[in-house]
Amino acid sequence: MPRPEDCCLSRAPSCKLIEKPSVMQDTGMQQETGNMDSTETSRPSAGDTAIDVVRVSKIFPGDPEVRALDDVSVAIRRNEFFTLLGPSGCGKTTLLRLIAGFEPPSMGSLRLRDKDISRLPPNRRPINTVFQNYALFPHMSVAQNIAFGLEMLGKPRDEIAATVDEMLKLVQMEALKNRRTSEISGGQQQRVALARALAPHPEVLLLDEPLSALDLKLRKEMQIELKRLQNETGITFIFVTHDQEEALTMSDRVAVMSAGKILQIGAPREIYEAPAERFVANFIGESNFLDAELAGDTVRLKAGGSFRVAVPDGVAAGPVSVLLRPEHASVRIGEPGPEELPVQIENVVYSGDATVAHLRLSTGEAVKARMPNAPGVAPLSSGAKGAAMGIAPGGITVLKD
Ligand SMILES: Nc1ncnc2c1ncn2[C@@H]1O[C@H](COP(=O)(O)OP(=O)(O)OP(=O)(O)O)[C@@H](O)[C@H]1O
Ligand SMILES: [Mg+2]
Repeated sequence: MPRPEDCCLSRAPSCKLIEKPSVMQDTGMQQETGNMDSTETSRPSAGDTAIDVVRVSKIFPGDPEVRALDDVSVAIRRNEFFTLLGPSGCGKTTLLRLIAGFEPPSMGSLRLRDKDISRLPPNRRPINTVFQNYALFPHMSVAQNIAFGLEMLGKPRDEIAATVDEMLKLVQMEALKNRRTSEISGGQQQRVALARALAPHPEVLLLDEPLSALDLKLRKEMQIELKRLQNETGITFIFVTHDQEEALTMSDRVAVMSAGKILQIGAPREIYEAPAERFVANFIGESNFLDAELAGDTVRLKAGGSFRVAVPDGVAAGPVSVLLRPEHASVRIGEPGPEELPVQIENVVYSGDATVAHLRLSTGEAVKARMPNAPGVAPLSSGAKGAAMGIAPGGITVLKD
């Protein structure tokens, strides 16, 4: 939620809007490209890095016991679609607010290109934010909303008109440019909010759960739209969501957060297929966790069967917990072969494209197996005795904890 103090203009003494707190939210005015404080400390070129978060912690004065961010480091690359993913309260918005400049870090520093921006006010950072509730001005037209930030920056009239046209085209809202924003749909409002934030051509766009107010169909459409906008503009997007599917489908890289820490950063495939720890595996996709014993590069499941695995750094031989994704497990009726495990089928759920079988191993451990439905394949029946579970090659992942 944007707050009045979020508006960079509230800190700019020359701002005309200071007398109008009701419109001081997400004005698209946060950035002022190329005007970073030249007195900031330089360091060697950051290369492809857009935003470098270096060992940042945040402790709010009202809650000194809690670290909303706890020693967070992440280098976000230029032109990247980077997503912060994690459960409610893990620190996603706090990290965005620090990057935007609405809050100072308690410890650590933030760098943009080769400059330390930790103490730079929001309006001097080439960064803009799209908030969850859009915060559009309802009495203004679509075009006026998009122009607003540029007017506050004192841009010339003809330049503003050209940029507004460019933005209207980018978000495909030309036909509704004279309509009040109170008279357009939620998805259209979202487009206008994006256009307004993109209009001053920020280097970095921060998006805090921008799709959460939309229904599922519109949300899917806007996901594609956001991806297209990011590709076309080449702007670095830092996107916040607690929806793992959204994170996997849209991002170049994802940072998974929990309790103020970043647990893992990686491409969606890496995060999904090689989660570093149990929390990440559990938060992203469906998971079965099984007890096993690691010796060399082989794990032996308690329930039987040995599998070659990649052993993550820092994992010692001995008892380990392994991950088996449901789509890497399958079941058939019959006696188990040498590489299969005996199971009991407890429940079978048909879900259109797939069948999910709830299985019980000889150790009592529960496993879900998800198998695509193919034409002509006989359905499984619940309660069938003498079933065998197969595990796809590479289907077992050793977790750190
Ligand atoms: N101004 C504040 N004062 C004190 N504590 C705060 C403040 N803002 C956030 N927090 C605390 O910091 C932690 C992180 O909050 P944050 O808003 O960053 O979470 P989030 O990951 O964005 O959650 P959500 O998904 O619910 O939006 C929470 O424990 C929250 O209560
Ligand atoms: Mg939040």
